[in-house]
Amino acid sequence: MASAPVSITYFAEAKKKRERFVVLSLYEAWSARLAEAAGVRVLLVGDSLATSVQGHETTLSVTMDQMIYHTQCVRRAVPRAFVIGDMPFLSHTVSESDAIRNAGRFLSEGGASAVKVEGGAEIADVVAGMVRRGIPVLGHIGMTPQHHLRFGGYKVQGRGAPDAKRIVADAKALEKAGVFAIVLELVTEETAAQVTAAAGVPTIGIGAGRKVDAQVLVFHDLLGLNPHFSPRFLKRYAEVGDEAVAAIRKFAADVSGGSFPGEANVFHNQ
Ligand code: KIV
Repeated sequence: MASAPVSITYFAEAKKKRERFVVLSLYEAWSARLAEAAGVRVLLVGDSLATSVQGHETTLSVTMDQMIYHTQCVRRAVPRAFVIGDMPFLSHTVSESDAIRNAGRFLSEGGASAVKVEGGAEIADVVAGMVRRGIPVLGHIGMTPQHHLRFGGYKVQGRGAPDAKRIVADAKALEKAGVFAIVLELVTEETAAQVTAAAGVPTIGIGAGRKVDAQVLVFHDLLGLNPHFSPRFLKRYAEVGDEAVAAIRKFAADVSGGSFPGEANVFHNQ
């Protein structure tokens, strides 16, 4: 029997039951099917699309149209998963009407179940406006990559009492605005624990330690597709990048040595 579609109630129930869950950030149909086969029920079409797939150094250049296209690819493959579209740089911060229209596109064109927005207390009004219009919103605070220029790099946040206080205040403002969960990125474990205790919605950590309600990783990173990317917060569960290089080398060697195609791979007249 096919499993029921995952709805927004999943998050409140998980927090209430203290059930840890995982989220994977991915961008197309095949990885979405693999995640679903592994039992992952919440998928994020992250703007890390820019760095993981498009070859950019940062996430700033990815566009709304590209994000919608990739959200459609994921949704088509996994109709029952909870699919979250990530709002790209400036798509939700210039004006509330822009934010609502852009978020609406993720739902109506992309088939997303929700959107994610980077930013804290400063965007709480906009988030409340989206939620009032029926758009489920996932918050994202701590080291938000869309603000790396302002932070002066990808630096761990929440060290020291004033910074911890700021991040807890961001979480509380977003919760009040109506988010159903909050991503905490590159935050000290102590501060992430404070946010998790203070928030009535689940916290989803990446580089935020162990004392959060859930964990998110990027599909490509978890599988080691880029063998050169190994930040401290990441655990690689496979070395698919190295295996792919070895397989392609073997293909080239078989062709140059004449063993591929073999008899099993060719067609005959009779
Ligand atoms: O873009 C992304 O993939 C993300 C997650 C890492 C949280 O924002």
